[in-house]
Amino acid sequence: MATTIAASITSSSEITEFVISKGNGVKGLSEMGLKSLPKEYIQPLEERMSMSQIMPQESIPIIDMSSWDDPNVAESICNAAEKWGFFQITNHGVPIEVLESVKEATHRFFGLPAEEKRKLLKENSPSNNVRFGTSFNPEAEKALEWKDYLSLFYVSEDEASALWPPVCRDQVLEYMKSSEAVIKRLLEALMKRLNVKEIDEMKESVLMGSKRINFNYYPTCPNPELTVGVGRHSDVSTLTILLQDDIGGLYVKGDNDRWIHVPPVSGSLVINVGDALQIMSNGRYKSIEHRVAANGSKNRISVPIFVHPRPCDMIGPFPEVLEGGEKAAYKQVLYSDYIKHFFSKAHDGKNTVEFAKI
Ligand code: OGA
Ligand code: NI
Repeated sequence: MATTIAASITSSSEITEFVISKGNGVKGLSEMGLKSLPKEYIQPLEERMSMSQIMPQESIPIIDMSSWDDPNVAESICNAAEKWGFFQITNHGVPIEVLESVKEATHRFFGLPAEEKRKLLKENSPSNNVRFGTSFNPEAEKALEWKDYLSLFYVSEDEASALWPPVCRDQVLEYMKSSEAVIKRLLEALMKRLNVKEIDEMKESVLMGSKRINFNYYPTCPNPELTVGVGRHSDVSTLTILLQDDIGGLYVKGDNDRWIHVPPVSGSLVINVGDALQIMSNGRYKSIEHRVAANGSKNRISVPIFVHPRPCDMIGPFPEVLEGGEKAAYKQVLYSDYIKHFFSKAHDGKNTVEFAKI
């Protein structure tokens, strides 16, 4: 029966209706056993991943956080944030059981019937802070991305309890709580190198005043080489803390426009610098372009926490960074304007940050 439905969904409007409006997502398409990729997902050549662009011998740093007080740990974190913009951490203090239960909650959410998930589409969701969707920005994209997501913006525990889907709410809240300490430690280390000695209330707000957590689902894809899971982009966060499962597929841009795989390391978290931190550090820490390849044989999930300023914060290079006479490379921008700009277009590599350049 699945193939009959698959065979009957061929026109562009039927795909859009089935995947986007009906809430089936690409997961629904994938589960029908499609033999070939619908043309809406075919990316232009320059956006596809090819083996020749990959540097198999390179890897981003893996930092063991168990002896946190050792200055070498802080040093490795800052070096990695300056050079790579990406690193993995192990022994970070978030219990493995918490990570496992978030992954299970992610599978539970995507396992809900389409009718349930559809209630959380942009046009149906009772709150702007809870959204189920597919691709990144279908209205603005020339080619769609092979990914479904649930996005939860954290305002308060009460709001989350009232509005977040019960199948995953408690696990997500637990994960956010237990990752708080490591996030603070990372930021403290990074601030020290910028000559910011104390994270006062205002700094705390611009560094970590709000959070968004996403569940990403990348279902098995019939022609993975023709499309992408997520296109080239940098994150708009201060820091992103990403939990990935054991499938792999995340690539980070390295030297000479080549791509480095971020291999799954059991129990680890992937950390990356986002645009907000690049701006606040006046370019010292780098928000690096990354992308996710589609997979021809496996379903993959990932769970990023985007730690960022409050929407009402103005962000710009910290005065401490400019103290020595360094020229500001970025102007002050209202963070909600920055976010609006990011979400108004398709993924386009590192272009978002131009919005804040002087
Ligand atoms: C993102 C992202 C990477 C991944 O959601 O911004 O880059 O591995 N995800 O899913
Ligand atoms: Ni990202």
